Amino acid sequence: MEIIDGKKLAANLRAEIASDAAALKAEKGVTPGLAVILVGENPASVSYVTAKEKACAEAGMYSREIRLPESTTQEELLALVKELNGDSAIHGILVQLPLPKHIADKAVIDAIAPEKDVDGFTAVNVGRMLIGEECFLPCTPHGIIKLIEFSGMDLAGKHAVVIGRSNIVGKPVAVLLSRKETNATVTMCHTGTRDLASFTRQADVVVVAAGRPGTLTGDMLKPGAVVIDVGVNRIKDETRPKGFRLAGDADFDSCAKVARAITPVPGGVGPMTITMLLWNTLEAAKRAS
Ligand code: GUN
Repeated sequence: MEIIDGKKLAANLRAEIASDAAALKAEKGVTPGLAVILVGENPASVSYVTAKEKACAEAGMYSREIRLPESTTQEELLALVKELNGDSAIHGILVQLPLPKHIADKAVIDAIAPEKDVDGFTAVNVGRMLIGEECFLPCTPHGIIKLIEFSGMDLAGKHAVVIGRSNIVGKPVAVLLSRKETNATVTMCHTGTRDLASFTRQADVVVVAAGRPGTLTGDMLKPGAVVIDVGVNRIKDETRPKGFRLAGDADFDSCAKVARAITPVPGGVGPMTITMLLWNTLEAAKRAS
């Protein structure tokens, strides 16, 4: 059984990205710049954006951190996004989701200029991805494909089962897995699926992005399957300094007994999401210069 080391793959790719960013600076005088907008104080979001900003700095990129109060209005946020769309020092704009309830995620995301949409969340980029045009690929799904390849699996002709149909992970990862260059056969399961295990038992690779711990257990796997666990669940644990521990959507111990390879939580998908964000930001800066 192999633990797929997302941190290691992320470190390899980040070294390449940092060296490319340095070359862009030396040759064209351009430092890739990312604006990270966080509205409110959702603890998980605070920890994600902090990690994104740190990763930017480590890759020699410029990051502009914009932390706004929960009371920010949609109009204020839209005005900020428009200003950043026109700011030549900023190549990528990231609005951390979820936004407070009084703000429509979609209106804000679609205000981001597609050429600065390094999350790949705008309707324009999602549409381009679906029809196979050049676009920014969404970071977590793109990172998942890289992790599966890193585990040594050639996806062509394999059966991938995706659990979850979110716009951020489930739907786009299903699209990427089934693209001709990847060529997997894809089944998408969700909360309406009857007898989930009957599908996962047929899978060569299972991507679980359900947002619920224990969604996938070892008895639901075909021996030798590869498991990609996208879940990040905070489980109360008073013995930990922060009062919680992180668990994925897969039951690690039982899955590890049956799978050929599995991503850990933390240290699997998470570091790759941030890496693909850096990748897209570098790409945006290259295209703009
Ligand atoms: N919320 C959860 N994941 C993500 C992500 O990848 N990008 C943004 N902007 N928000 C998120």
